[in-house]
Amino acid sequence: MMESPSPQAVPPPVLPAKTASIARAAALIREGRLVAFPTETVYGLGADATNDHAVASIFAAKGRPRFNPLIVHFADPDDAFREVMADPRAATLASMFWPGPLSLVLKRRPGCRLSRLVSAGLDSVALRVPASTTARRLIAACERPLAAPSANRSGDISPTTAAHVVASLNGAPALVLDDGPCAVGLESTVIDLSGDNALLLRPGAITAEAIALRIGPLATLADEAEGVPRTAPGRMARHYAPGHPLRLEARTVAPDEGLLAFGPRPLSGARITRNLSPGGDLVEAAANLFAMLHELDNAPVRAIAAMPVPDTGIGIAINDRLRRAAVPLSDPEACA
Ligand code: TXA
Ligand code: MG
Repeated sequence: MMESPSPQAVPPPVLPAKTASIARAAALIREGRLVAFPTETVYGLGADATNDHAVASIFAAKGRPRFNPLIVHFADPDDAFREVMADPRAATLASMFWPGPLSLVLKRRPGCRLSRLVSAGLDSVALRVPASTTARRLIAACERPLAAPSANRSGDISPTTAAHVVASLNGAPALVLDDGPCAVGLESTVIDLSGDNALLLRPGAITAEAIALRIGPLATLADEAEGVPRTAPGRMARHYAPGHPLRLEARTVAPDEGLLAFGPRPLSGARITRNLSPGGDLVEAAANLFAMLHELDNAPVRAIAAMPVPDTGIGIAINDRLRRAAVPLSDPEACA
């Protein structure tokens, strides 16, 4: 039997982010459609966070497990805090780091307007006010918060350009707003403040040290395992994964490998080399990471070898993403 052509096969319009395209994107969101939009971290796949049906379609478009909750994006911290229980630590962090690449997990307030689906069965919700002015203009034009995971198929490398979005999701978004490459290039730091101990769920550009200076030391999931564990439902072992096998801490490279180099002395002999930062700058490396993984993944190589990256500052977040990208598909702990 002939299958009817899938509407997903038609690539979405990609429009430069301007007043008219932002207005068109907002109209689509208000109709319950999906729109991919830029943030300073990675491109997001946005939907009206108050519309159950729209939020459900994010999970379908990404092939995302239903137990993995979504971050909700606001134009303004006051709008965000209206949906959750008050928390002085959150107020402190928001005054320092919002708008910016930080997501805060807080307890939902009774009467919270956000779809239960964004919380994936938890009594908490992750909130973020992005630094990208395009993102905030879009949210303001929608007059409602946007649920937005990274705009890639679940488990794939995150998108830092509009072209990455189209390559991974094809026709799933009704529109892609293009604002060029993302400045930060790694997803937001996620801090769980839903319990007594502040917990680092995902490292990012805003480091655990910078946060600890304001609210005291952070626990990690490993520390919590001793007591009553809280979960990081979306922190799959395998994530951000290229199609080629990825080898970490490479000190040598084979002629059929692609090299992800770092610093002034890249290994020689690879078929293709991409250097995260020839000058050894970790912020530049973070901004280049996903785009270079995409390029090496599309190259005719057997595997990708990654040189060591210093484990300090934003380097901690780079190494977190590299480790998850390197988990083999055969790993029983791995999960798409
Ligand atoms: O930078 C970012 O955060 C990007 C841009 C688009 O804003 N978004 C993003 O979303 O990375 P996503 O869905 O790919 O990652 C969200 C992370 C997941 O690890 C998820 O499990 C966690 O945040 N998360 C969301 N809500 C949570 C909650 N209530 N409790 C614990 N973790 C939560
Ligand atoms: Mg993601």
